[in-house]
Amino acid sequence: MSKNILVTGSEGYIGSVLVEELVKNGYLVTGIDNCYFEESRDRSRLKNYRLIKEDIRKIDKLDLSPYFAVIHLAALSNDITGDIQPEKTFEINYLSTVRIAQKAKREGVKKFLFSSSCSIYGIAKNGIVDETSRINPLTPYAKAKIAAETELKKIADNIFCVGLLRNSTVYGYSPNFRNDLVVNNLVTVALATKKITIMSDGTPWRPLIDVLDLSRIFIKFLEANPAQINSQVFNIGFNENNLQVRNIAEKIKEELPQSVIIYTHQHGNDVRTYRVNFHKFHRSFPEISQQWPLGKSVKKMIAKLNEKNFNTMDFRTEKYTRLAVLNRLLKSKALDKEFYWTSHG
Ligand SMILES: NC(=O)c1ccc[n+]([C@@H]2O[C@H](COP(=O)([O-])OP(=O)(O)OC[C@H]3O[C@@H](n4cnc5c(N)ncnc54)[C@H](O)[C@@H]3O)[C@@H](O)[C@H]2O)c1
Repeated sequence: MSKNILVTGSEGYIGSVLVEELVKNGYLVTGIDNCYFEESRDRSRLKNYRLIKEDIRKIDKLDLSPYFAVIHLAALSNDITGDIQPEKTFEINYLSTVRIAQKAKREGVKKFLFSSSCSIYGIAKNGIVDETSRINPLTPYAKAKIAAETELKKIADNIFCVGLLRNSTVYGYSPNFRNDLVVNNLVTVALATKKITIMSDGTPWRPLIDVLDLSRIFIKFLEANPAQINSQVFNIGFNENNLQVRNIAEKIKEELPQSVIIYTHQHGNDVRTYRVNFHKFHRSFPEISQQWPLGKSVKKMIAKLNEKNFNTMDFRTEKYTRLAVLNRLLKSKALDKEFYWTSHG
């Protein structure tokens, strides 16, 4: 197996950790990313990693034939960013995904791993959902993920292996940190205000996974026998990490005991609640166990944020909030309406 890997979205929250892990494991990594979130990225740079600053919608410029695999992360990356302009989410998250996979297959890439999301389960009040359950995608983001999964399955064949990873919501520190994910959000709110403010009554369920655990799993999928994963959907996470938001708050309070937990009971637009069954993933990869449970990861996150002097201003200016950053870039015309950089960018 060649060790030459292309990672799209390599400069993002998951990408920055995954690239480090790939390089540590001896892979030759090229990244493609248009670097929307440069402002929040740590300045330290990895050796042995080549970044192509380009939009994935311009993938035609790139020769994919040298790569054994593509790990496809680039996207407008959560339910709320999907609402900013639903047609852009469709174009970047769905159309581009399909185009990259088709091109990769034509040019001889052997494997394509897609970063899908458990968010497609939406509201699942009755019991625990598995890969065969009815999906309930509530947002343009979730709809684009499911549309991409469906097309990618059609592109897969016995020479082009496609793995579809429906990831849990991620937590943990990353060189390109974001705080619009539930755990990271509550930690930064607590650091900035000494309050763990929960917008709901705390009962919604979320499946969670640490960013390093997820990166190790991507590498397992890279190394897996194609027959084991091809054209298949896997819920990615750990059964013990289906938590209610109030359990998350309590765990964070253990690390920041001076914080007060507050419930505002305003669900806002987010009515998602889902518990996910991960048996298929654990049956297929029994050797993988969780190394970064919530408490341990939160402790590390707090230490890292303190090290980089995370402060109330970072919190107020929403430096680590993807939607706010994109809106700012659009407003200042650094990005044009098509989400391409302008000369001001
Ligand atoms: N973070 C999570 O909890 C989570 C959970 C499930 C699935 N996912 C998926 O994993 C992937 C990565 O998520 P993340 O948390 O790292 O998000 P992120 O926003 O931190 O990173 C996404 C990266 O993609 C890049 N990008 C976006 N549009 C692009 C384009 N048109 N061309 C080139 N680059 C572009 C951005 O610049 C960014 O660096 C996404 O597909 C996301 O939907 C994330």
